[in-house]
Amino acid sequence: TGIDDLGDLRGKRVLVRSDLNVPLEDGRITDDGRIRASVPTIRALSEAGARVVVTAHLGRPKGAPDPQYSLRPVAARLGELLGTEVAFAEDTVGESARSTVDALEDGGVAVLENVRFNEGETSKDDAVRGAFADQLAALADVFVSDGFGVVHRKQASVYDVAQRLPHAMGALVATEIEVLRRLTETPERPYVVVLGGSKVSDKLGVIDNLLGKADKLLIGGGMVFTFLKAQGHEVGRSLLEEDQLDTCRSYLRRAEESGVQILLPTDIVVAPEFSADSPATVVAADKIPADQLGLDIGPDSGRAFAAALADAKTVFWNGPMGVFEFDAFAEGTRAVAEALTRVDGLSVVGGGDSAAAVRRLGFDEAAFGHISTGGGASLEYLEGKHLPGIDVLSD
Ligand code: 3PG
Repeated sequence: TGIDDLGDLRGKRVLVRSDLNVPLEDGRITDDGRIRASVPTIRALSEAGARVVVTAHLGRPKGAPDPQYSLRPVAARLGELLGTEVAFAEDTVGESARSTVDALEDGGVAVLENVRFNEGETSKDDAVRGAFADQLAALADVFVSDGFGVVHRKQASVYDVAQRLPHAMGALVATEIEVLRRLTETPERPYVVVLGGSKVSDKLGVIDNLLGKADKLLIGGGMVFTFLKAQGHEVGRSLLEEDQLDTCRSYLRRAEESGVQILLPTDIVVAPEFSADSPATVVAADKIPADQLGLDIGPDSGRAFAAALADAKTVFWNGPMGVFEFDAFAEGTRAVAEALTRVDGLSVVGGGDSAAAVRRLGFDEAAFGHISTGGGASLEYLEGKHLPGIDVLSD
């Protein structure tokens, strides 16, 4: 069910779960992509005359109020993007939330304070989560699930609340699921997957699953050093997950057996320190000096990755190739992003970090087939896992 199936929403209180978890630096939003992606559903509900109550999380506070994770600046940005006033409740289900919702007029929009300021949101105890979901549900007549980035979490505002109210899938979640379905069901070939980011351990499930499906797997980012070490190379002071060395070896072996090509970088940008102004040099991937650490894939690797993407018909990319936040280590990520813009087929950028990288490096979002708002959520979908926040909508 979509929003259109909910009937006449005029005057109804609609609780919308959005993913407004954006990066902040000194209280300033550095990438508002997720807020912008949430606007269409909120606007459509407002235009339908609903009283829109937005619930969302920011960061990982420990179940109690923590000012650095307040959604107040996010609510302000949402108001700018909507071009209307957005009310802000100082709590999630308390006195402020109730009076803010009561004061909403038809078409009005309010944002509740960070849902993770309440321990019931993320509790593993069904009863504790359920009790909190009851309080959330009491604020609304219907529920719309639009926070794609959190649908892999079995949390009160994502899962339990949907069991307590008539519900529908928001447009963002519907679009995201549709694109991911195209990637998993019948991807046009060649199907190339690019994985980066810092940890192999975050990507185990997806590599496992894709070894049987993708034609090529390009690996960069911090996780590459565990692969290089698994091949017997020294990696200096680079990121390394010792406990994943055997897993990496088994992936390399399985890739060879199944005819999937795994491409690792052949050169690396290294520096003595993890900092923006640390002097960068390019070395061969098997000659990383003992006192340096790898912070990006090198230019030869960037070209090789771009070449491997040139004839792709389907591409999924998750995770930056290097520390793109520092200019000296952004070129590998830039090379991959640029190659994706030239793909003649479906190109999907998945994950908060890679999506933020694409925008930070100045690429036009329209040049990509789809930029997902979900990191963990899109990976878990590609792993073939069930997403609680999706399953609950069809129950
Ligand atoms: C994300 O940033 O991927 C989502 O907002 C989910 O956040 P979480 O990993 O803290 O649950």
